[in-house]
Amino acid sequence: MAPRFQAPRGTRDLLPDELGRWQWAEARARGVLERYGYREIRTPLFEEFELFARTSGESSDVVQKEMYRFRDLGDRDLALRPEFTAGVMRAYLEHGLGGRARVHRLWSLGPVFRYGRPQKGRYRQFSQINCELVGSPAPGADVEMITLFVDLYEAWGFHDLTVTLNSVGQPASRRAYGDALRAWLAPVRERLGADSQQRLVTNPLRVLDTKDEGDHALFRELGDMPRLLDAVDADDRAHWEAVLAGLEAAGIRYEVDHGLVRGLDYYTRTAFEVHDRSLGAQSALGGGGRYDGLVEELGGAPTPGVGFAIGLDRALLVLEERGAAVPSPAAGLYVAAMEPTRAAALGLARALRRRFAVELD
Ligand code: HAM
Repeated sequence: MAPRFQAPRGTRDLLPDELGRWQWAEARARGVLERYGYREIRTPLFEEFELFARTSGESSDVVQKEMYRFRDLGDRDLALRPEFTAGVMRAYLEHGLGGRARVHRLWSLGPVFRYGRPQKGRYRQFSQINCELVGSPAPGADVEMITLFVDLYEAWGFHDLTVTLNSVGQPASRRAYGDALRAWLAPVRERLGADSQQRLVTNPLRVLDTKDEGDHALFRELGDMPRLLDAVDADDRAHWEAVLAGLEAAGIRYEVDHGLVRGLDYYTRTAFEVHDRSLGAQSALGGGGRYDGLVEELGGAPTPGVGFAIGLDRALLVLEERGAAVPSPAAGLYVAAMEPTRAAALGLARALRRRFAVELD
């Protein structure tokens, strides 16, 4: 008989056998983050709903369809965090970190929540490793971020990653691009999915983000999609060229993806992702980009930033499917006691446990 209670749909238990892989991956990641000079920050699992609505964008899937929004007993409008960036930047402002140092390198690890349709690699509670470099507008900051991003995967044994990259420009260039996209899609407008038709009106860039296969077939039918990169201004273009040159110097393999727009609204200039095809439809292992307008949007002084998040569940799923071995924990001691030595064994095991892993019969 099935047990009366089961984990809520889209969530999972991580049993001790699986946790070995998680702990190993987390420890490897911490090592890389320390060597890059990043410091950990921990923020609450829930925040004001409005914080996420403002930053992720009212028309994003995350806000429209995927938010765990609730009222607490004091009638506050709250939401479980669907990502880290908004909470980290809220904390950055609340504690005046900008006044303490010009540049901050911050990382976090923990669960995030999105009410999506559960499938392979897509959960309602999942874990991210999140990194933010706040305070630098330099292309070198983007390069550092992307290099760190790749080095985290490499520390887990991924050696064949290609980063996909685009520039999403500024709000003004995106509006111009939105008009170009509307014109391009006009001939197939009625054949697009209902979501995309709606987005074509409210936020045409989001159409490129569609998960509807029928829509993607229409894009292929139309061919020659207008390019965001053709709409960005001269400063954004120079930034873009400098980032590409930096990636080449750092030895990072990349590909330009003109359709890459990211699912959250706060990005400016560089946007990037890595994918693994073995995951099927949910192929993004991680992604990020620059968000130069975000702090201002939250009421702070203009502050540039760039960051990314890695979906740990997906990365570990791929490693497991590839049969990557996890080093087993250090060998321990086993104390076997006979009846006359049972009392002595208790004391001995306790003393040994100050230095060694000990299992007592
Ligand atoms: P994101 O692309 O929304 O970015 O999420 C990052 C990663 O989280 C995805 O690439 C994917 O691996 C994983 N992920 C997303 N949804 C799910 C899900 N339902 N189940 C399992 N894994 C999932 C962000 O969250 C940004 N805050 C990244 C960032 C930081 N940008 C700047 N700073």
